[in-house]
Amino acid sequence: MFADVVHSMDIAAAVGAERLREIMAELVDITTAVVKRYGGTVDKFTGDGIMALFGAPTALEDHAVRACLAALGVQQEAKRLAVDVQERDGVDLQLRVGLNSGQVIAGEIGSGALGYTAVGEQVGLAQRIESVAPPGGVMLSESTARLAAGAVLGEPELLRVKGAEEPVPVRRLLGMGERHRAAWRAESNLVGRHWEMAAVEGLLERAIDGDGAVVEVGGSPGIGKSRLVREVAAMAAARSVDVFTAFCESHASDIPFYAVARLLRAATGVGDLDASAARAQVRARVPDADPEDLVLFEDLLGIADPEAELPKIDPDARRRRLTALVAAASLARRDPAVYVIEDVHWIDEVSESMLADFMAVTPQTPFLVLITCRPEYRGALSRVPGAQSIALAPLSDSETAALVTDLLGPDSSVGGLTTTIVERAAGNPFFVEEMVRELAERGVLRGNRSAYISTVGATEVSVPATVQAAIAARIDRLSPAAKRTLSAAAVIGSRFDPGLLETLGIEPVLKDLVGGEFIDQITSTEEPEYLFHHPLIRTVAYEAQLKSDRAELHRRLAAVIEARSPASADENAALIAEHLEAAGDLHAAYGWQMRAAAWATNRDIAAARLSWERARNIADALPTDDPNRAAMRITPRTMLCGIAFRVQLNVAGAPFDELRQLCTATGDKASLAIAMAGLVMDHVYRDRLREASQLASDAMALIESVGDPTLTVGLSFAPTYAKVESAEWSDALQWSQRVIDLADGDPAKGNFLFGSPLAIAFTNRAMARYCLGRPGWRDDLNHGLALARSADSLSFAAVVGWVYFAGISFGVLAADDPTVREIEHALRIAERSGDDLALALARMTLGTALVHRPTAAQRDRGQKVLAEVGEVFRCRGHNLCELPIVDVYSARESARSGDRDDAVRLIRAAVDHLFRDQHLLAWGIPATGVLVEMLLDRGAAADAAEARAAIERLAAARADEGLVMRETWLLRLRALLARAHGDDTAYRDYRDRYRDMARTLGFEGHIASAEAMP
Ligand SMILES: Nc1ncnc2c1ncn2[C@@H]1O[C@H](COP(=O)(O)OP(=O)(O)OP(=O)(O)O)[C@@H](O)[C@H]1O
Ligand SMILES: [Mg+2]
Repeated sequence: MFADVVHSMDIAAAVGAERLREIMAELVDITTAVVKRYGGTVDKFTGDGIMALFGAPTALEDHAVRACLAALGVQQEAKRLAVDVQERDGVDLQLRVGLNSGQVIAGEIGSGALGYTAVGEQVGLAQRIESVAPPGGVMLSESTARLAAGAVLGEPELLRVKGAEEPVPVRRLLGMGERHRAAWRAESNLVGRHWEMAAVEGLLERAIDGDGAVVEVGGSPGIGKSRLVREVAAMAAARSVDVFTAFCESHASDIPFYAVARLLRAATGVGDLDASAARAQVRARVPDADPEDLVLFEDLLGIADPEAELPKIDPDARRRRLTALVAAASLARRDPAVYVIEDVHWIDEVSESMLADFMAVTPQTPFLVLITCRPEYRGALSRVPGAQSIALAPLSDSETAALVTDLLGPDSSVGGLTTTIVERAAGNPFFVEEMVRELAERGVLRGNRSAYISTVGATEVSVPATVQAAIAARIDRLSPAAKRTLSAAAVIGSRFDPGLLETLGIEPVLKDLVGGEFIDQITSTEEPEYLFHHPLIRTVAYEAQLKSDRAELHRRLAAVIEARSPASADENAALIAEHLEAAGDLHAAYGWQMRAAAWATNRDIAAARLSWERARNIADALPTDDPNRAAMRITPRTMLCGIAFRVQLNVAGAPFDELRQLCTATGDKASLAIAMAGLVMDHVYRDRLREASQLASDAMALIESVGDPTLTVGLSFAPTYAKVESAEWSDALQWSQRVIDLADGDPAKGNFLFGSPLAIAFTNRAMARYCLGRPGWRDDLNHGLALARSADSLSFAAVVGWVYFAGISFGVLAADDPTVREIEHALRIAERSGDDLALALARMTLGTALVHRPTAAQRDRGQKVLAEVGEVFRCRGHNLCELPIVDVYSARESARSGDRDDAVRLIRAAVDHLFRDQHLLAWGIPATGVLVEMLLDRGAAADAAEARAAIERLAAARADEGLVMRETWLLRLRALLARAHGDDTAYRDYRDRYRDMARTLGFEGHIASAEAMP
């Protein structure tokens, strides 16, 4: 690096040689300090400038980055000095700085402090580059520009060099991004951690070869997780591997997408760009992406075009599609990369689950994913299958001693202190560092890092008891202005910019904070950003303030965030709410939380759930005499019960009872009805059919008592579903009939949960009608399908699912080609825009249709689909009421190639379960059918008797009047049993009656089976 004063001769002429020497001396001092800070050495003075070296004598992997940072730092300091010079001398002081990288011959030439020097062609070139830098600017050679990752560069320019044929390309350095913040610190030498580094290095090498890995680095605060990760990042950078980092933050753990958006912004390199440039960059990266997916992705990154409309899709589909897009983009990336996610103990839930999905594909990528967390973290990212985990233990005493010695230096006066610090620090390197800083600030230690002298005998020194106490003592010694700055910054978060502090009414005093290593500057542009040196410093700075001061800062901050970007107010709603809550402004916090929930409802239902939970807690904390408290407690609770079945949230029991009491006390029947409908769904999904059926009747009574047709139309689907599942067909018929009457042909009436309640009602009435042998079911099915085709994806998937899944299972419909095509179509729509539940339903329907197809290949595929769907139901805990029939079909098909006895055992268990729970008359009918067929087919000793018992059990179950569905099946099963007994007369009789009944009722599936009977 060369730095030179512009027009120094003119300055000399204006101020005189004496004054110029003074100015130069000052310039040299500040430059030397900056160069040192970044690990460089000042090599020599060149009359009116300075030459400095980075990467020699000590080779630093990231010397180019450090040199760039130093160059910008030198310019910044010089500008500060220039203000004084301008005032005093009336002249313009400006510097040019030039950088070049390459091989130099370095060694001791001459002697003394500046004896170490470098010579060669590259040094000469650096000087030439410096001479063409604009005044106040920094110019880089092409080689430095290439090495300095994170550098913000100007356009390439050409420089003619004497004696060289070709002009040399050079580029202006405009600033440094944050990608190399590691370089900002002057770190102590790494001690210990040998095997950890070796292990991660091995994994990094495998990742570079295409076998990626996830590594979890765990350990207590200050133990060295981030440090280990920084070392790995430097190792990766030295191998030219890109490193992308995101930090989770304690105040952002309830802010959806916080971490994942940050990581993706880093990985796509859009961090420093404005929104439209960022969009262009993203589009260039994934040129083939679906335009809708791109809009979703840009929305996630916070760079969406405000004009562009978000596609109308369900949050689950949004998450699936984003995950698929990110996975596809990462699978397509050939260059290895290291992704770092720090402090996942503070991760938000939504990011957590998205990243867990992303990590599942890591083994097939050239990526090393590193996550750090404190030991209390138990979330999904601590259980990534196949991840390696490294638990960092405290440093050994000898390692700690090595660190202390490195920091204190060799002077004999500090020897005793070393022992004291080692004992107290208990192997925590951060505690060591803080103790040393504290002792230095207190005056116990004199001198500089690595060269301290102790002024007090070791036995007389008291050291802080905990690392927090050490930090607190250091904060106490700050000037009031610096302390105010630190306090306000701690309220903002772990990173902040001075502009924001000023808007909060704080005059930022940063110099002492940087000097004392409380904070680090992380970007060096016109508007620098700062970061707390360590998370613990922020915690202590936050907690040490007076509560009332802190609350005031939170309040102002909330207002500033809102005012700063009104367009992103929805996106920031959760953050604003957090600050307002911390400020104690509960009403406002509640409002913002509800707003956040509304925003998230279309983006991520889990995020919406969190916001409702926060809103509920805020409302509960209001004083009891607050007039709005009751209503505020009800609304979020109602929403939580209403969506419980979609997010597998447990609200049965105390949470629901509490809401019921609240609603009863205020006479709020509508809220209670919505919550009840949600709870009914939840009961059914978790296979609590008795509770579901009872609550369904109560809910219907309540809904009717409200007397609002829209509410009735919108909510009836839930209680009706419960009655369908528990085979109370008369109720199902009556309730779906009422919806059809009240909707009066309007497909969208009451569409607050489903796009078309009317379409569902037709499907339900069809089921009730064909089970009870009433006419009109075929028209109902067609009507329902027609309405659903022009409704939303959820309605469409639900209607197609119930029409065909139930229709084919009961033997009413045949699984013919057009049917399979329509189901596949619904499945595609569910994948693109529906929620996970709609998707599972569509897959269950497809699997069911396929296992009713003639060819083995189709049935094999059906079996596979059903086995997967069953697994999803079991793991996620929904649709458990359909699980028995899914298991039955899946077992029947697997028996074709596997163990028949096993299959029979499984099917028997499923039918017994349906019997015990008294819902034999819904899925129990076809399930009994499969059991009987399997038993008779096997024909072992007791099989016929068991088949007979199963038939009689079905026949004896108490049923609604005229359950012709059962009669039809019984005729078929009795025919099969008679044939197994060799009773031909009885067989013919049952078979003919079965065939007649199937034809009379128009049950296509049964007609086909009957005609196939010999
Ligand atoms: N092995 C080591 N040798 C030398 N210094 C170390 C070592 N490990 C950590 N340090 C230093 O100790 C300090 C604390 O380490 P670090 O920030 O990595 O802690 P952490 O485990 O990430 O803590 P937190 O959970 O609070 O984020 C840092 O300044 C780091 O440079
Ligand atoms: Mg850390």
